[in-house]
Amino acid sequence: MSQLGNNIKRTINDLTVSYNDEGPDGAPIIIFIHGFPFNKSMWNRQTEALKGDYRVISYDIRGFGDSDAGNSDFSIDLFVSDLLALMDTLKIDKAMLCGLSMGGYIALNAIENYPERFSAVILADTNCVADSPEAKEKRMNTIENIKKNGVENYADESIKKLFAPESFTTKAAEIAAAKAMILKTPAESLYNTLQALTERQETCSKLDEIQVPVLILVGIEDVITPPDAAHFMNKKIKLSKLYIIGHAAHLSNMENPKEFNEQLLKFLKSVSSRKTA
Ligand code: MLT
Repeated sequence: MSQLGNNIKRTINDLTVSYNDEGPDGAPIIIFIHGFPFNKSMWNRQTEALKGDYRVISYDIRGFGDSDAGNSDFSIDLFVSDLLALMDTLKIDKAMLCGLSMGGYIALNAIENYPERFSAVILADTNCVADSPEAKEKRMNTIENIKKNGVENYADESIKKLFAPESFTTKAAEIAAAKAMILKTPAESLYNTLQALTERQETCSKLDEIQVPVLILVGIEDVITPPDAAHFMNKKIKLSKLYIIGHAAHLSNMENPKEFNEQLLKFLKSVSSRKTA
């Protein structure tokens, strides 16, 4: 019997990791991985929508939310090793995986390197390419800017690119929630993760090896990981479907949870019927 609940703390890979585990024990399992620099609370609306029929796990990546940062340099490989260690600790052999942006980088790395552990993947507002030299330089400048002008200023600047322009008049609560997540992240985790993101490997060249159903979602106004990136992955992944979310930019699951959840539920249902067919 699993321990279900919110903000459960377990020692994983020598550090305390915080996760939510809700829904019926024994139901199909879906694990949510948040983007940068957010935390598991970004998945609250998806958890509410799914927990009647699915066991829904969302966790804080090391250094974010209520998880410890540990002493190692961050990397996407290390984040994948934490994900697998969490699954091992919870005795989960196989799960469905949903990652947004950096969560998608982790999900792609995980499915490509450990395909036997995952039965379906949802890639939201993400990309398979590595950072260009310009993107790397931008991240290094971001580190310097945070050191100089503080996290609050960084949060205000980031928010402008995360949401669609119309949301600044219609989605005040979601914008405040995203800003609160950024402010909760320790500056050291921001630096460590920005460095890790510059060093991450591309995952595009192995997309055609993915053999499980994949749903690709992207906000129509996403300027960070734009719809073009989603179309590219859709062409390469055999069993993938793409859906473009209206009235949303990069945080499409928070900005348009209705459409996001409809597509997610439809996909999860199709995956279950595929298994029983
Ligand atoms: C995210 O939302 O995780 C970030 O935008 C990822 C990135 O900066 O590449």
